[in-house]
Amino acid sequence: MNEIKLSKRLKAVADYVDNGARLADIGSDHAYLPTYLMQKALINFAVAGEVVKGPFEIAKNHVSEAYLSDRIQVRLANGLGAIENTDKIDTIVIAGMGGILISEILEAGKEKLSHVKRLILQPNNHEESLRQWLVNHQFVIKNEEILLEAGKFYEIIVAEPLSKLMTEPSAKPSVPLSADLMAFGIELSLNDLTFGPFLSKEKSIIFQQKWQKELNTLNKIIARLPEEQVEKRQEVLNQIARIEEVLR
Ligand SMILES: C[S@@+](CC[C@H](N)C(=O)[O-])C[C@H]1O[C@@H](n2cnc3c(N)ncnc32)[C@H](O)[C@@H]1O
Repeated sequence: MNEIKLSKRLKAVADYVDNGARLADIGSDHAYLPTYLMQKALINFAVAGEVVKGPFEIAKNHVSEAYLSDRIQVRLANGLGAIENTDKIDTIVIAGMGGILISEILEAGKEKLSHVKRLILQPNNHEESLRQWLVNHQFVIKNEEILLEAGKFYEIIVAEPLSKLMTEPSAKPSVPLSADLMAFGIELSLNDLTFGPFLSKEKSIIFQQKWQKELNTLNKIIARLPEEQVEKRQEVLNQIARIEEVLR
């Protein structure tokens, strides 16, 4: 099989996988991501989990054609059910799904997360719900990226467990859990949840384009909303104000 060439979105996701990782790619579809990383000798072992039989079979064939079946296990399973303790997975990718579905997958399999060092998540929407799930489960957002491909905006959220960060040499000794959560970035404001703590600070051109587009949509909605719908109008006006503020 020829070397895999990833889309701009999947390549950006792949770039957050550390060298030598033991990776689980959940919702792997064609298994392009683990195949690419293994072909480049960037990872040691991977599980490609897929819940639908068709893509599972295709993934299995791809991995077999690349002669990687001994190092990439393709499993037909729901969510983190694809991961076994003996896999010693340290990095999980869940990409190309809605943010709510990603949160549900993490919630349903949270007992599989205790030894994981990094989550690389690429929600197609509802990023705020996913950030809220991470905060609620003591995951710290370590990095974010936004990109535009084929007219669509994609966000990537990289998170690591607070427990891992607190044992790193750079961490403060014996951080009191309740007092220093802000310093570790695991309490997020409403604006951080919506716009992303890193993305809203960086305010890249792509970020501005995404939220300007959203602003245009909301302005059209408000223009059409009847005056009697007071509550709905107020809700939309609040959203508009928050976006205008972040774009300022
Ligand atoms: C749009 S594709 C994304 C594929 C790839 N991750 C990417 O980013 O290009 C989403 C895949 O996730 C699979 N999927 C959805 N829910 C899942 C679940 N609960 N467990 C495993 N796979 C799931 C779908 O069958 C589909 O193949």
